[in-house]
Amino acid sequence: MSSRIGVCMLLTLLFFQNCFVSALTNGSDASALQALKSDWSRFPESWKGSDPCGTNWVGITCSNDRIVSISLGNINLEGKLSADISALAELQILDLTSNPKLSGPLPPNIGNLKKLNTLNLMGCGFSGQIPESIGSLEQLTTLSLNSNKFSGTIPASIGRLSKLFWFDIADNQIEGTVPVSNGTSSPGLDMLLETKHFHFGNNKLSGDIPEKLFTSNMTLIHVLFDGNQFTGKIPNSLSLVKTLTVLRLDRNRLTGDIPSSLNNLTNLYELYLANNRFTGSLPNLTSLTSLYTLDVSNNQLTFSSIPSWISSLRSLSTLRMEGIQLEGSIPIFLFSPILLQTVVLKRNQLNATLDFGANYSNQLEFVDLQNNEITNYKPAVNKRIQVILADNPLCQEEGNQQNDYCKAIQYNTSFSTPEIKCSHCGQGKEPSPACHCVYPITGILTFRSPSFSGFSNNTNFIILQKGIADFFKNFSNQVDSVAIRNIRETATDHQLLIDLLVFPLGKETFTEMGMDSVISAFSTHTYKPPPIFGPYIFKANQYIPFSGIMKQVTHTQLIKLGLKLVSYNSFSVFFFFFAMHVGGGSKSANTGIIIGAVVGAAVLLLFLTIAGIYALRQKKRAERAAANWNKSKSSIDAPQLMGAKAFTFEELRKCTDNFSKANDVGGGGYGQVYKGILPSGQLLAIKRAQLGSSQGELEFKTEIELLSRVHHKNVVRLLGFCFDRTEQMLVYEYIPNGSLTDSLSGKSGIILDWTRRLKIALGSGKGLAYLHELADPPIIHRDIKSNNILLDESLTAKVADFGLSKLVGDPEKIHVTTQVKGTMGYLDPEYYMTNQLTEKSDVYGFGVVMLELLTGKSPIDGGKYVVREVKTKMDKSRNLYDLQELLDTKIIASSENLNGFEKYVDLALSCVEDEGVRRPSMGDVVKEIENIMQLAGLKPNLDSATSSRTYEEVSKGSSDPYGK
Ligand SMILES: *[C@@H]1O[C@H](CO)[C@@H](O)[C@H](O)[C@H]1NC(C)=O
Ligand SMILES: *[C@@H]1O[C@H](CO)[C@@H](O)[C@H](O)[C@H]1NC(C)=O
Ligand SMILES: *[C@@H]1O[C@H](CO)[C@@H](O)[C@H](O)[C@H]1NC(C)=O
Ligand SMILES: *[C@@H]1O[C@H](CO)[C@@H](O)[C@H](O)[C@H]1NC(C)=O
Repeated sequence: MSSRIGVCMLLTLLFFQNCFVSALTNGSDASALQALKSDWSRFPESWKGSDPCGTNWVGITCSNDRIVSISLGNINLEGKLSADISALAELQILDLTSNPKLSGPLPPNIGNLKKLNTLNLMGCGFSGQIPESIGSLEQLTTLSLNSNKFSGTIPASIGRLSKLFWFDIADNQIEGTVPVSNGTSSPGLDMLLETKHFHFGNNKLSGDIPEKLFTSNMTLIHVLFDGNQFTGKIPNSLSLVKTLTVLRLDRNRLTGDIPSSLNNLTNLYELYLANNRFTGSLPNLTSLTSLYTLDVSNNQLTFSSIPSWISSLRSLSTLRMEGIQLEGSIPIFLFSPILLQTVVLKRNQLNATLDFGANYSNQLEFVDLQNNEITNYKPAVNKRIQVILADNPLCQEEGNQQNDYCKAIQYNTSFSTPEIKCSHCGQGKEPSPACHCVYPITGILTFRSPSFSGFSNNTNFIILQKGIADFFKNFSNQVDSVAIRNIRETATDHQLLIDLLVFPLGKETFTEMGMDSVISAFSTHTYKPPPIFGPYIFKANQYIPFSGIMKQVTHTQLIKLGLKLVSYNSFSVFFFFFAMHVGGGSKSANTGIIIGAVVGAAVLLLFLTIAGIYALRQKKRAERAAANWNKSKSSIDAPQLMGAKAFTFEELRKCTDNFSKANDVGGGGYGQVYKGILPSGQLLAIKRAQLGSSQGELEFKTEIELLSRVHHKNVVRLLGFCFDRTEQMLVYEYIPNGSLTDSLSGKSGIILDWTRRLKIALGSGKGLAYLHELADPPIIHRDIKSNNILLDESLTAKVADFGLSKLVGDPEKIHVTTQVKGTMGYLDPEYYMTNQLTEKSDVYGFGVVMLELLTGKSPIDGGKYVVREVKTKMDKSRNLYDLQELLDTKIIASSENLNGFEKYVDLALSCVEDEGVRRPSMGDVVKEIENIMQLAGLKPNLDSATSSRTYEEVSKGSSDPYGK
C-alpha cells in the first residue's frame, strides 16, 4: 500500500519537473533526440532534461529552435543509431567520429535528412549495407564512412550527390564492383564531377575498374583504390583526369601492361602500382615531372635494366622497384634526381658494383638492395647513406659479413617532439610538455601517402607539430599544447603513422565539449597539414576519463542491488518514522525532511519491488526449466540451472523460421546451428542436436549446467535450452563473427593483424583462466580449439562448446575413463597416454591455438603437425626465430610490426611442453600475453581487464543468488 502511494508521488514529481521547463526546442526535434538517446547505453553526461537547445546539451547546435548540428566525436557513445534521426529535418551536420561502440546498420530512412551536408561516421562500429537512400542527401558535401564494418556494395545512388566533395569509405568490408551510370535512370560514380577524393582503400571491391568511371570533366585529386581485389587492366580513361595528384592502385589483382597514357597525368605526386599482376615492361614515364613517389614493386614485369628515364623525374623522392626482375648493373644516374631520399630495389638481379659516383642527390639516405647479385661496393665519399646489401654475393664473402651494410636492419625512428623531459605519470596520464600529469587526447594521425621519405629527417615533423599547436591556439581555448611521438611507416602500404597527443589547458581532463571540438577539427579537415603530408585521418583512442560514463548493470548486479536494498530500506523506514516523530514539534520546518524521507523510502521500495520481481521470475524460470526437463522423461536428472530459460519447441521453431536453410549458420558432429531472433529483437544461436540422437544427453546436461553458471566476458553465454518433443537444443547469445577458424581461413573476411591476434589470444586465455581458476568448482574444457573460440562484433574472443567439459573434483575424473576425448591436433599427448585429465590439458590445446594464430592453418596440415614444424624450424639466434616461412602471410601483410613475436613463440612452446607439470597455468599465460601486448604497444588492461574483473566478481558473488 505505502509503496503504491510512494510511486504515485514520485511519478507526480517527475511529471511536474518536466512540465515546468519552458522548452526552447522544437517538439519533434526534442523527441527525436530523446529517441536517439534512449537507444544509447552510453551518452553524454550533459544530456539531461527534455530541452536540448535550452539546456545546452553537449554537441547539439540549434538555430531558431531547430537542431542543425550533432557533433559528438570520441566521447564513448554506445548503442545503435535510431531511425528517429530522420525526424531532424533541419539537420545539416552529423558527426559521430571515433565512437567505436556505435554499432548496427545505418537506418534506411537516413535519406530523409534533406539538408544534411556532412555525414561523418569515421571510426565507429557501424555495419551492414550502406543504405541506397544515402543518394537522396542532395546537399551532401562530405561523406566519411571509413573505418567501420560496413559490408555489401557501394550504392549506385551516391552518383546523384552532385555536390559531394569528400567521399571516404576506406577500411571497411565493402565488396562488389564500382557502380557507373547507364542512361539517365541508373546513376553511378562517374557522375560525381565535383568530388575531389575517392578514398576506397582496404575494402573487398572487385571486378574491373570500369572504363566509364573516369571522364575529362571530373576534378578528382585523390584516387585511392589500394588494398582491394580489383582485376583487369588500368582503364585508359584514367589519364583523362588531369587533376589527379595521388593515384594508389597498389595491392590489387590488376593485370595487363602499365599504360604509357599515365604520362598524361602530369600533376601526379604519388603513383603506387605495387603488388599487382602487371606484365610487360615499364613504360617511359618521363613526363611525370612532379612525381615524388613511384612504387611499382612486386609485379610480373619482364626482365629489364634500370630505365634511363628515371633520371629525368626531377621531383622524385622515393623510388620502389622491389621484385620486378631488374637486371644488369646499377647506373650512376639512378641517384641523380636532386630530391631523391629512398631507393628500394630489393629482390632483383642487379649485379656488378654499387657505386654512387659523384653526382648523387645530397638528400639520399637509404638504399636497400637486399637480395641481388651485387659483388662490389664503393660507398659514397661525403655522405653517410644507409645501405643494405644483405643476401648479395658481396656479403657472402669472408670478412664482409660483419659490415653494417650486410645486416638487414629495420628502419625506424623513435623521434618525439617536443622532447619528453618529464617522468612517467601512471593511471593513464601523460606528462604535458610543461610536465603536468594530465589526460591528453591521444590517437594516430595516419597519412595515406606522404610526399617525402626518409622519415629520419626530423624537420618535417617539427613543422607538423608546430603547425598543429599553432592551429589549436587559434581554434580552441581548451588546448594547451600538442606533442607527436613514435613516427613509423606501415610495412605493406607505406602509410605514415604518428602518435598525436593533445593536452588540455589548465585542467587534468578535457570536457566533452572540448573533446568534440578537437576531434571535429580533424574530422572536418579544418586543420590542414603541410601539403607534403597529403591526405590524412585522425583515429582517436578511447579517452580514459570518458570510459565509464554509464556502467551497464548486469542482471546479477541487479539482484545484488535488490538484496543490498533490503537492509538499506529498513534503515530508511526507521528514518521515516523518526522524521514523523520529530516533525510533530515544528511542522513547517520539518515538512521538507518528511517529504524527503517519504520520497526516499518510496524510491527504495520501488527498486526493491523491481529487484524482487526479477529474482522471483528468475527462480520461476529455473523451476519451469526443471519441470520441462522432467516432462521429457529423461533418464538423467533435471539440470541444476542458474538463470537459463527453458524454451519451448514452438518458440524456437518460430524464431528460426521453422529452422529454415537461410538461418542455418553451420554445424558439427553434434548437429546444426541456427540463427534465431526473438520478438524482442535479441539474436540467438541455437544448437540443435541431430534428430534421434539421444547419445549426447549427458553432454547436453553437462553443458547446460556448466554454462548457466559461468558469466565471463570471454565465455559464450547460455541463454537457455529446449528439451521438448525429443529435441535437444541449446540456446546461446549469437556471436556475429563466427569461429576463430572462420577468420583464420579467410572465410569470415576479417583480417587478423598481429595486434588482433594478440587480443584474441588474451581474450580466450582469460576465458580459460576464468574456468580453471575462478569458476566454482573449476572447469576443464577438454576441447580447446580454434573452432570453439568465437569472435563477437568487436572481435572479443569467447570460449564456447562445453559438451566435453569436466568439473575438477568430479568423481569421474579419478575413475579413469577408457575413452580419451578431444580433437586430434589439440590433444595433450600426456593425457592421451595416461588418461589423467588436468587443467594442463587445456593449456596444451591453448598452446596449439596460439601456434595456429601464427600459421593461419589447421594444426595438422598436409600431414605436418604445427608443434613439430615450429620446434624443428626455429632458430633462436635469428630475427623472428627464422619462422617467416611458416607465418600466415596475412599477418605480415596487415601488421605494422610484429613486436613481441619471439616472446609469443616462447610462450606457445611452453604451453605445448610434453609434460603437463612443465606447462604454465592459464593465469600465468594471461599475464605473459599481457606483457607481450605491451611490447606490441597495446594496453591490455584498458582493453578488457576492467570489465572482465567486474564480471568475475559478479559471477563469484552470484553463484548463490537465491540462497539455494
Ligand atoms: C544499360 O541499360 C540497358 C537498358 O536498360 C541494358 O540493356 C544494359 O545491359 C545496361 N548496361 C549495363 C552495363 O548495365
Ligand atoms: C563534359 O561536360 C559537358 C558539358 O557539361 C558534356 O557536354 C560532355 O558530354 C561531358 N563530357 C564527358 C566526357 O562526360
Ligand atoms: C594523352 O595526351 C596526349 C597529348 O596530350 C593525347 O594525344 C593522348 O590522346 C592522351 N591520351 C589519353 C589516353 O588521354
Ligand atoms: C622517353 O620519352 C621521352 C619523351 O617522350 C623521350 O625524349 C625519351 O627519349 C624517352 N626515353 C626512353 C629511355 O625511351
